[in-house]
Amino acid sequence: MNPLEELKNIISDIESTQIEDAAALESFRIRFLGTKNILKPLSALIRDVPNEQKKEFGQLVNEAKQKADELFLHYQERLAGGASHKNIVIPDLSLPESPFLTGSRHPVSIVMEEIIDVFARMGFEVAEDREIEDDWHNFTAMNTPPDHPARDMQDTYYVASPPGWLLRTHTSSVQARVMTSRKPPIRIIAPGRVYRNETVSARSHCQFHQVEVLYVDEGVSFADMKQTLHQFAQALYGKDVVSRLRPSYFPFTEPSAEMDVYYGLADEHAHRITKGTGWLEILGCGMVDPAVLETCGIDSTKYSGFACGMGIERQAMIKYRINDIRLLFENDVRFLKQFSAVV
Ligand code: DAH
Repeated sequence: MNPLEELKNIISDIESTQIEDAAALESFRIRFLGTKNILKPLSALIRDVPNEQKKEFGQLVNEAKQKADELFLHYQERLAGGASHKNIVIPDLSLPESPFLTGSRHPVSIVMEEIIDVFARMGFEVAEDREIEDDWHNFTAMNTPPDHPARDMQDTYYVASPPGWLLRTHTSSVQARVMTSRKPPIRIIAPGRVYRNETVSARSHCQFHQVEVLYVDEGVSFADMKQTLHQFAQALYGKDVVSRLRPSYFPFTEPSAEMDVYYGLADEHAHRITKGTGWLEILGCGMVDPAVLETCGIDSTKYSGFACGMGIERQAMIKYRINDIRLLFENDVRFLKQFSAVV
């Protein structure tokens, strides 16, 4: 057989090779790619090939080498893939998926939204405003001028500059913001964070949340306030809630009151948090003092109004029987995840 024929046979040999296992792959490698492979002596025979066939011969030698290379790599990969394939554990696709962790809403957010919802149903709209407030809106407009003793009721954080600015001590400042920028009828609810320079303890914190409610229109009466607030108490604490209004004092309302709900004296916890009375204070309220209306540019001979303010943490603590306000600011997931069922 002439070398050209021989070479062609080898190429078709390579092309038809089927390799089943590692041993066969190794003998293929030795035969066609090893140091003593069968192509080597053949390529030396180019001397004996007639001149006009030398070019074709040379090309075929290269082709044979290339094909052997490709075939070797192909089977090498396939056998390796096959081996690792055997290690793949096919999961049982009929098993239920492992549950993924969901977060939970913060109790303060839950209660805040609930309160907004109750008042929204009664026609109040949300009015949010700034936490860094000026003295005028926080105190003076709320009938608490600089020398007023009631300023002592709320220990204030003043900001370094500009002078006269502070972290609002209550959301009542939003009353002044709204009344100076709108005409009655005004029916708003203002939720937000407030700050007081108080020692942090189980009962009080230097930051907390309040909701302010303000209704100003012609002919708004104390009876309107009482009915609205009782409805609110029912929505938050249940239809059978027993509530009462107790006379109180706030500079910006006249008359002023505080609303209590009856909590009972069933156990030691109830005795402790109601200080043995069975009653729990939930909010402050009153008829907007005519002086406040006038300061904010509203004619007090034509309009009257009621206002109320409440601490949201306080409502959350009553509702969920939380005995330490600090839990509401620490964001310990063991605490927070207890509210994941509340939607
Ligand atoms: N701003 C008062 C406080 O932080 C709460 C309050 C009382 C708000 C009576 C009112 C109100 O609107 O009428 O203690």
